Amino acid sequence: MSDLLKQTIDKTYPVVTHGKGIYLYDSDGRQYLDGCSGAMTANIGHGVEDVAEAMEKQCRRVAFTYRTQFTNLPAEALARRLTDLAPGDLDWAFFVNSGSEASEFAIRTAVSYWRDRGILGKVKVLGRNISYHGMTMGALSMSGHAARRPDYGPLLHAFSFAPPAYAYRFGQPGETEEAYAQRAATAFEDAIRDEDPDTVAAVIVEPIVGAAGGVLIPPAGYLARLREVCDRLNVLLIIDEVITGIGRTGDWFASSRENVVPDLLLIGKGLSAGYYPVAGILLRSHVVEALREGSGVAPFGHTFSGNPLGAATCLAVLDFMEGRDVLANVRRRGKQLEAGLLSLAARYPCMADVRGRGLLWGFEFIMDQESREAPDPAFGAATTFVQECLVQGLIVYPAGIAPLNNAAILSPPLVITEEETRILLAKLEEALRAMERHVRRWSAVAGNRSGSRVGIGQ
Ligand SMILES: Cc1ncc(COP(=O)(O)O)c(C=O)c1O
Repeated sequence: MSDLLKQTIDKTYPVVTHGKGIYLYDSDGRQYLDGCSGAMTANIGHGVEDVAEAMEKQCRRVAFTYRTQFTNLPAEALARRLTDLAPGDLDWAFFVNSGSEASEFAIRTAVSYWRDRGILGKVKVLGRNISYHGMTMGALSMSGHAARRPDYGPLLHAFSFAPPAYAYRFGQPGETEEAYAQRAATAFEDAIRDEDPDTVAAVIVEPIVGAAGGVLIPPAGYLARLREVCDRLNVLLIIDEVITGIGRTGDWFASSRENVVPDLLLIGKGLSAGYYPVAGILLRSHVVEALREGSGVAPFGHTFSGNPLGAATCLAVLDFMEGRDVLANVRRRGKQLEAGLLSLAARYPCMADVRGRGLLWGFEFIMDQESREAPDPAFGAATTFVQECLVQGLIVYPAGIAPLNNAAILSPPLVITEEETRILLAKLEEALRAMERHVRRWSAVAGNRSGSRVGIGQ
């Protein structure tokens, strides 16, 4: 018997006892290779002594202070570290406890920014179809995540959505990457114009779509075009790097790869690498100047915002990453993982569109290479695959939004070694072998349905 409400209420979950490096262990002594860092979070692996020691030290000194009464040295140092790493004039940082709260803070900031500049009526934030920015009501209102929204209809803001940048499903035959980048950015511009730019405070995008899409990399040049659209229409650009930030893709920030500086940049997950709940918002100088000259206050936070223990934890994580040049490992192991995944995709036809960067990789399941038909949602392809991986002692992250996209994410801790990457790929291959059998069975059950491409979003 348990008094703890579980995600799936009647499911029996293994009881985790401890973790070390890329492995987790349960009370039956089973070992699991954490192939997705839980939820793209445990970025420096489990059981890192340096972080535990830093946390203990800070806890003994002072664990909690409240931001309206004190500032504190770890929070000051963390803000300096992050703004030094961030591109352009992202010179300010604010801390919250979760990615969802970072999204909420971004909405409040965007609306306050225009109001404080004396421009009233800019109160909408546009997201994209196939995206995820969090489960709180504002964050969910900006998330084009059909599976997570329907229960809360009237509680969500009526924000509208631009089409995704998702070449495998929405690229046109013969279209170049550049042409698709232009078309997708123009579609975003059209969505803003349809809403009337005078009512739009900001747009929000993930530079690489995570949970909602199974790692969707936009065409090169898309983000830069979006930056240009936002500047032209007087709309703030929010880039949500809750998954991609702090080294996951081999750069400190994925958006830096395209030399794009958003007005607000959201971070979470890997910021504390799971050792404490911390997320953050980096803000450009002009945004803070508008607030300073307007209301003179930040758009509110939460009890635990910027507390010393959380900040000291993140500093220890950054020390670890810089001290061991973890980003160099991400780039090396990323290449190894990419080569391994492409080789698997060549041999297992149910696996399509291997895509990713650094140590953030995804692919989706299809019934047939020619038609790219997605498995019927009733078959639960992504969760079936997760189960098959678990049989191999490998944890992967189910992603994508049925019916279009049944995907899996591989995002191991950024400290994974060459040998561990080989082990991960070997386990994955066993799971894919089983998955091929499932797909053949589903094909037989579904009969001859080839050619029916399901579409959402545009
Ligand atoms: C891109 C992105 N933004 C925001 C969030 C919300 O973060 P949290 O679950 O910490 O509230 C997530 C969570 O998965 C995410 O993937």
